[in-house]
Amino acid sequence: MADSISSPTPRVIRNDPWYGSYAARAETMRASEIRALFAVASRPEVVSLAGGMPYLDYMPFGQIADLIAKMMREKGDVAWQYGLAQGDPHLREDVLQIMQLENIVDVQPDDVVITNGSQNALDLITRIMCDPGDVVLSEAPNYVGALGVFQSFQVDVVNVQLDSHGLIPESFEEAVKEQRRLGKKVKFLYTVPNFHNPAGVTLSVERRPKILDIARRYHVLIVEDNPYGLLGFDGQTYPALRSMDAENVVYLSSFSKIIAPGMRIAWMVAPPGIRQKLVLANEASVLCPPNMSQFTITTYLDNFDWKKQINEYRGMYKKRCDTMDAALHEYLPYCSWNKPMGGFYIWLKIPAGLDSRAMLPRAVTAKVAYVAGTGFYMNGEGKDHMRLSFCYPTPERIHEGIRRLSTVIDAERETTQLFATSGKPDNDPRDPEYPGPDVP
Ligand SMILES: Cc1ncc(COP(=O)(O)O)c(C=O)c1O
Repeated sequence: MADSISSPTPRVIRNDPWYGSYAARAETMRASEIRALFAVASRPEVVSLAGGMPYLDYMPFGQIADLIAKMMREKGDVAWQYGLAQGDPHLREDVLQIMQLENIVDVQPDDVVITNGSQNALDLITRIMCDPGDVVLSEAPNYVGALGVFQSFQVDVVNVQLDSHGLIPESFEEAVKEQRRLGKKVKFLYTVPNFHNPAGVTLSVERRPKILDIARRYHVLIVEDNPYGLLGFDGQTYPALRSMDAENVVYLSSFSKIIAPGMRIAWMVAPPGIRQKLVLANEASVLCPPNMSQFTITTYLDNFDWKKQINEYRGMYKKRCDTMDAALHEYLPYCSWNKPMGGFYIWLKIPAGLDSRAMLPRAVTAKVAYVAGTGFYMNGEGKDHMRLSFCYPTPERIHEGIRRLSTVIDAERETTQLFATSGKPDNDPRDPEYPGPDVP
């Protein structure tokens, strides 16, 4: 469900003999639009601006391999053994220095829980907090992976609004009041404050205390999901919400974007009561995070200048973002977007009347892929947007990808103007009968 999906969408199984036997929560699960696209978008001739995969080619894999071999010779018996449900103590100690970069200075290793990626962390927090029908407030457009988790726990996702300065505090407060008025239980606010996926925006420093103040006044927990915080293009970081409030914030971060996602290692910090439940839930779900992956990460952190490496990543992503921004100005000046200050994504608004989801098969035919905006909402909104990722393709491919995209959008505009319609019928990809994009 995360962006870096590596397998194609399972097709709808017709005449499934187990139809009628599934739990209600399994009935609510849907394939993400990103996954539906993966098989075609990953063909080499297609410039994929769809996935959120970090670019790893600059990693010193030869040296890393030597160090892992040494680690295996020295402590292979532990690396290949079961570990603690809360995670390896050495790694829990190591993540403290990473969090200090965003002003989180009051955490002890015992406050940290290691997870199998932040996806696992999102699952755990929803698992321990939410019953079916409870409300989670979530910024719209939403991070797809979180939507998948919320859906699988039959949570009602209520959107709160973002603008170019991030989450709008008044929208948060209104949503809490309205849901309470309706008699609903609001369990938490889910927010990605830095370099948002997919919106690209960052919560302003001025708004941060306001959000925390509302959360405290209404006793609403905040789940702060921060995989991109260290990827500010100019090296800038922002004080984490967790750095200002230890009692009302559950903080999530991950090695996926700052080192590599293949290890599936992330971490969370939570107030003691919640943390205890998270560890129990982790034990019930996976027994323990994988020792082999945790030891690989600690080996990397202990032996490499990881701050320098993150700096190099920042420079690389900045160049790619600049290239995409310049190409958009060159080829699609009538579209609108906020140029992000970090992270992986541009959230592009396309001209009124166009439908990014209906247009996608034509884009893939023109050998460029993106994620349609509808994938980031549960209610069919988002047709007028698309997410463009600049993290993985080289600058040359990004430029070419935007050029190709412009031919598709130009043609679509012409057709819309001619017929005053966006063309395709309004299929719902969350409908189990939806056949997926009819790509060649
Ligand atoms: C906002 C956000 N949260 C969480 C994740 C998942 O990260 P992980 O690879 O640690 O599961 C992603 C990945 O794209 C993301 O963009």
